[in-house]
Amino acid sequence: MSRFNKKIIDIIAGARPNFVKIASLYKQINNNKQIKKNFYFRLIHTGQHYNKMLSDAFFKELKIPKADFLLNVGSGTHAVQTANIMIKYEKILINDPCQLCIVVGDVNSTVACAIAAKKLGIKVAHIESGLRSGDIKMPEEVNRIITDSITDYFFTTSRYANQNLIKNGNTRRNIYFVGNTMIDTLKNNLKKLKKPIFWNDFKLKSRSYYIITLHRPSNVDDLKKLTKILNICKKFKNEKFIFPVHPRTKLKIKSIKNLEKNLIIVEPLSYFSFNFLLKNAKGIITDSGGITEEATYFKIPCLTMRSTTERPETVKLGTNILIGNNYQLLKNSINKINVGKWKRSKIPEKWDGKTAVRILNILNKIL
Ligand code: UD1
Repeated sequence: MSRFNKKIIDIIAGARPNFVKIASLYKQINNNKQIKKNFYFRLIHTGQHYNKMLSDAFFKELKIPKADFLLNVGSGTHAVQTANIMIKYEKILINDPCQLCIVVGDVNSTVACAIAAKKLGIKVAHIESGLRSGDIKMPEEVNRIITDSITDYFFTTSRYANQNLIKNGNTRRNIYFVGNTMIDTLKNNLKKLKKPIFWNDFKLKSRSYYIITLHRPSNVDDLKKLTKILNICKKFKNEKFIFPVHPRTKLKIKSIKNLEKNLIIVEPLSYFSFNFLLKNAKGIITDSGGITEEATYFKIPCLTMRSTTERPETVKLGTNILIGNNYQLLKNSINKINVGKWKRSKIPEKWDGKTAVRILNILNKIL
């Protein structure tokens, strides 16, 4: 794609959930002649996630083009990681500025690139802006607040997000309620979902198992807390719990002795395998935000091991409930799911697979 006479738009992605969110954007960019005529997109991969299974596998399955720039920042403390991304992205921008920097979600790459661009006078668009958990101890909440405070164009997934932005003094004119790009990607790939390689080995069948995913510092950095959550497997010895382990959790889990036999620990899964597993699960125990949305879409009971959520629609309309530290509630909820009594749910407004199209149409108008 030649860049002559085109406006340059940077798309920033660094961590696993970012890749899922930008995939639908790229699919629509490829389908849209007008967009390709007007804009030249550069993909900046910060390298925050670099594992094959957290990064490459997602690019391959979701057909995300190769990054134009790979910043290779890798892991580090929050300050080190954020600062390194800023330093490296700023260099690119000084050398060859873009007209718009699009950031997604709430990871360190999001806030780092938004700051670097804004300080060079470049406009920032934030996809999935306005989410607030109200829990400032979450690193993601800090990232959301800072990113939104310097965003020019807000693309939101829900009316709650719009309200949060308006409460913060933003004008409605720059807030666009477009829906959810993560659900676009899910809808675009439903036919491609596939059994994980261990499906037959563990004799899995539809609705015969639970999934666990945990990676939040608040759940996994404290070994006692992690052990308490995993003890749920002791209480339900007849159930299988499949646990694809994030690298952060893997480090911790090694030191827990006598894990239950019905806790099946596996490597992180690719997008197609994970969502196949989710679609066919009895329920999921998680601390992810994105998974609460995917579970709501599939109508799979979702037990969130947090006491707040930045996605209240997954609780109010969807299949999600907040468990917090209430282990009795966790147990009762699994009992409920086992007897087939979960709340009725609805799919939230504009989770219709057309979000990326809306975003690109708006970009065409505003730039
Ligand atoms: C990050 C995001 C979180 C998101 C999650 C999705 C922030 C603040 N957090 O958390 O919002 O929900 O991604 O997975 O941006 N590691 C590897 N290989 C990798 C990446 C990380 O082994 O490819 C290890 C490193 O040892 C690192 C740890 O995992 O210390 C955590 O990675 P990091 O990027 O710091 O945050 P996540 O917990 O993945």
